[in-house]
Amino acid sequence: MPEQPPFNRQYGPWALIAGASHGVGAAFARALASQGLNCVLVARREPALQALRQELVDTYAVEVLVIAADLSQAGIAERIQARIAEREIGLLIYNAGGDPFLTRFLASSIEQWSSLLRLNSQTVMESCHLFGQPMLERQRGGVILVGSQAALGGIRKLAMYCATKAFMLNLGEALWAEWKDRGVHVLNLLIGTVDTPTMRDAMVRLGVTDALTMALPSAEDIVADALRQLPHGPTFIHPEDTRDGAQAGQARRAHVLEKTAEAAVFIGTD
Ligand SMILES: NC(=O)c1ccc[n+]([C@@H]2O[C@H](COP(=O)([O-])OP(=O)(O)OC[C@H]3O[C@@H](n4cnc5c(N)ncnc54)[C@H](OP(=O)(O)O)[C@@H]3O)[C@@H](O)[C@H]2O)c1
Repeated sequence: MPEQPPFNRQYGPWALIAGASHGVGAAFARALASQGLNCVLVARREPALQALRQELVDTYAVEVLVIAADLSQAGIAERIQARIAEREIGLLIYNAGGDPFLTRFLASSIEQWSSLLRLNSQTVMESCHLFGQPMLERQRGGVILVGSQAALGGIRKLAMYCATKAFMLNLGEALWAEWKDRGVHVLNLLIGTVDTPTMRDAMVRLGVTDALTMALPSAEDIVADALRQLPHGPTFIHPEDTRDGAQAGQARRAHVLEKTAEAAVFIGTD
């Protein structure tokens, strides 16, 4: 058998893309399949996943498993793991997580916010636990948590989106600090705006001028940036970190390392 390229040795043979039916998730699936990774595609809309599965099989001759599932349901990560069975997940991309409500906090119900909380917190935590454990045992793998610049502070009409994306950011940076010397790469991808069907639909719904024609960064470019940055972690901030001399992600890296060293005095270095 021919030797695998370094990318596939580190992140293969299977990638799990949670939120793969369109936009950034579908762009990740295409980029990973083009490198020869098999893909597990998860989202709610099965026809869109099946169409992408056919495209990946026809274009890249990889194996693809489709799982139609709602990631905001309690216990869904374990059910997905059961469907994946013996397939070895070397790369977890958690991409689902846009805010479908876009309202002031009190204008959506507790149940609505709870579903976003499960989508962007509980299922993220469970996925990192379930799929991170075997990666640590193999001493190779990667995790990309697709986040938002909304993680960096509160924004009107985005309270729970900001809060849950901040959860993802802190979880991802802590996991990077725990796993970086054990062969598993972790990256938080903080996006400003990106051209996705969800974003365009929201802009149309909210009456934004030029909603369909405004130029937005492409999902393909952002995915390429993220895959380049993944070995370095822990945080890539788009678009700031694409500019010459940009230091936004590097500043967070320094912060994580500094606080980790300070905390070690009290909680140990194990
Ligand atoms: N678009 C932007 O400008 C922007 C800006 C900052 C950050 N981001 C982040 O980038 C990521 C992708 O953005 P997006 O605009 O494409 O968002 P999205 O609406 O979350 O859609 C991404 C994918 O996730 C799936 N998905 C959404 N909710 C799901 C659920 N409950 N269960 C299973 N699958 C689900 C969608 O497919 P189905 O509908 O078929 O389930 C789709 O395939 C998100 O995490 C978002 O927060 C986006």
